[in-house]
Amino acid sequence: MRIFPALLIAVPLALGQSNPDLSGVWKANAEKTKMERPLGDTGYYVWVQQSGAVIKEKTLLMGAHFEQRSEAAYDTSAPETTNMMRGEKMASKATWSGGTLSIDTTGHMEGHEVTIKEKWTLSPDNKTLTVARDTGRGEDTIVFDRQPDSESSVFTGPPRMAKDVYLNVKELDVPAYELGEVMQNFTHALGVNCQFCHVRGKMDSDEKDKKVFARTMIHMTHGINQDVFKGKFKVSCYTCHRGQKEPLIRPAETAEAMTH
Ligand code: HEC
Ligand code: HEC
Repeated sequence: MRIFPALLIAVPLALGQSNPDLSGVWKANAEKTKMERPLGDTGYYVWVQQSGAVIKEKTLLMGAHFEQRSEAAYDTSAPETTNMMRGEKMASKATWSGGTLSIDTTGHMEGHEVTIKEKWTLSPDNKTLTVARDTGRGEDTIVFDRQPDSESSVFTGPPRMAKDVYLNVKELDVPAYELGEVMQNFTHALGVNCQFCHVRGKMDSDEKDKKVFARTMIHMTHGINQDVFKGKFKVSCYTCHRGQKEPLIRPAETAEAMTH
């Protein structure tokens, strides 16, 4: 008869060991959060959708004058999952241990090798999600409060436009969260860095002629697509620039021959 009580105990124990469900809409609590760069008025949202071993994460940082979004998915049953972060491929290993989700991510960012280690813990009352993040350069502790599911509308609703969010955007007709990617494309298209057009720390300033000229170029490029290609996105900065500041007017060897 002894075997029965043992079995009865074993079943609840096994159930108790099932991993927490982190699904929900979460918003960082600025007072309880400790980050290298304090959050201030920035709204920091995470939307987690967990189903079996797969955990999908959408992130939204909403400042008065900036916005950033990202998406990632992790599979705790796979040896590794890859995600794109700011145009770079990052490899993550996600594992559960004692109710805590660990996500170790490695890859390259702006030419540097980076390792990010995160530990996600759900409070016993399911109302608080704490993410401890070690970037190798510093440690952040982000305390998220559970929001009603209806708050997912911050992710699914119409996005704020760059012109309405940034201080001095006049030509670009894109959602605010896409501005960063557009700027990355400019640097790649011309083979330059941000400071070619911008004064460091004063991105809204029109001090540099290159930036003012770039605005004319945005207008021209948009005009070509509008007028010639019926509004389809066919011509970009890269089409002419090909990684150069000054596009070639004829093949390089011809230009060379003509100057001799
Ligand atoms: C080729 C020139 C050029 C390069 C290179 C460039 N930008 Fe810009 N940037 C612009 C122009 C032009 C605008 C304004 C666009 C408009 O008025 O529609 C702008 C606007 C911005 C703004 C909005 C600032 C505000 O509040 O008004 C930010 C932020 C920004 N750029 C960041 C960057 C970053 C970061 C990089 C490097 C990754 C970069 N830019 C590279 C030309 C450039
Ligand atoms: C149809 C071709 C074409 C497209 C498309 C184009 N450009 Fe240009 N761009 C040029 C040419 C040609 C020059 C050189 C002008 C000169 O030499 O005076 C130039 C010059 C520039 C310069 C000044 C470079 C310097 O060294 O002074 C900037 C900045 C620039 N372009 C930004 C952009 C951006 C940003 C885009 C996309 C929004 C873009 N261009 C799209 C043809 C193009």
